[in-house]
Amino acid sequence: MARLDVTEMFHGISFPGHLHTQESLELALRFPFRDTDVLIVSYPKSGTTWLQEIVTLILSRGDPHLNQTVPNWERAPWLEQYYSAAVLEASSATQRIITSHLPHHLLGPALQGSKAKVIYVYRDPKDVVVSFYHFHKMANFLPDAGTFEGFLKRFLEGTLNYGSWFDHVKGWSSQKNFMDNLLHITYEEMSLNLHDAIGKVSSFLQCPLVEEEVNNCVKLCSFASMKNNNMVNYTLIPHEIMDQSKGSFMRNGKTGDWKNMFTEEQNQYFEIVYKSKMQDYPEFV
Ligand code: A3P
Repeated sequence: MARLDVTEMFHGISFPGHLHTQESLELALRFPFRDTDVLIVSYPKSGTTWLQEIVTLILSRGDPHLNQTVPNWERAPWLEQYYSAAVLEASSATQRIITSHLPHHLLGPALQGSKAKVIYVYRDPKDVVVSFYHFHKMANFLPDAGTFEGFLKRFLEGTLNYGSWFDHVKGWSSQKNFMDNLLHITYEEMSLNLHDAIGKVSSFLQCPLVEEEVNNCVKLCSFASMKNNNMVNYTLIPHEIMDQSKGSFMRNGKTGDWKNMFTEEQNQYFEIVYKSKMQDYPEFV
């Protein structure tokens, strides 16, 4: 499945046709979740891969076997991508790890009544847009990045692939008080204290770890370890699809990198749009 130049428009949101079909997107909306499933949800570039690694390692009690032998898209497939139905069907895991970039208004109905554990990871949107911009330059299944100025405008309008960051975060955040099986975690808290973030996720998953197991997870989930792990750094993906000569997937792994990219005017413009879009969400302002 190449379709590198194809875009699928689904419920007003564009998705890369290399990974999605109308059928795979439709199937995701009707997915029969099991109560034992763990679902990781994010807007792209928010720490999805990091959380896939963290959850894999927690459920393996810090044992590196799985995360060093099975690619992340096989052990935590994206529900809406075309290959996931086959991967999930073939899975023998007692607790399946599933990933999704879908907004709540699309995926919420499939989760209703389910006890599947949902972890929503989000990140400072200024860092998200910078990371996404660099990713567009190397991912040949995404449209041309163009200038950062134009890219930022499209991010703020919500017209990039995967839709609006604002709608995504607001949709999943609005569920905080309604879903008791939903955990919110930020990229920033994982950066600040990975040990405690792993503790928070393991408690939520009701999978308590002893200190040595937590420490193993911390070591294996560090940026340096993941950058060197072929099962997670996307170097298994052919060059024509992800051209890592133009930049690494595991690019920088820092908070606040936006300061190296935004001009003062772009920052002011961002702040104005952000405040107006998030005004009803005081926890974000
Ligand atoms: P940068 O481009 O800012 O470096 P996603 O997995 O949602 O696509 O997010 C990718 C971003 O998460 C990239 O950000 C990547 O470097 C960062 N990332 C992945 N693993 C990480 C880790 N262990 N520590 C810090 N950042 C990590």
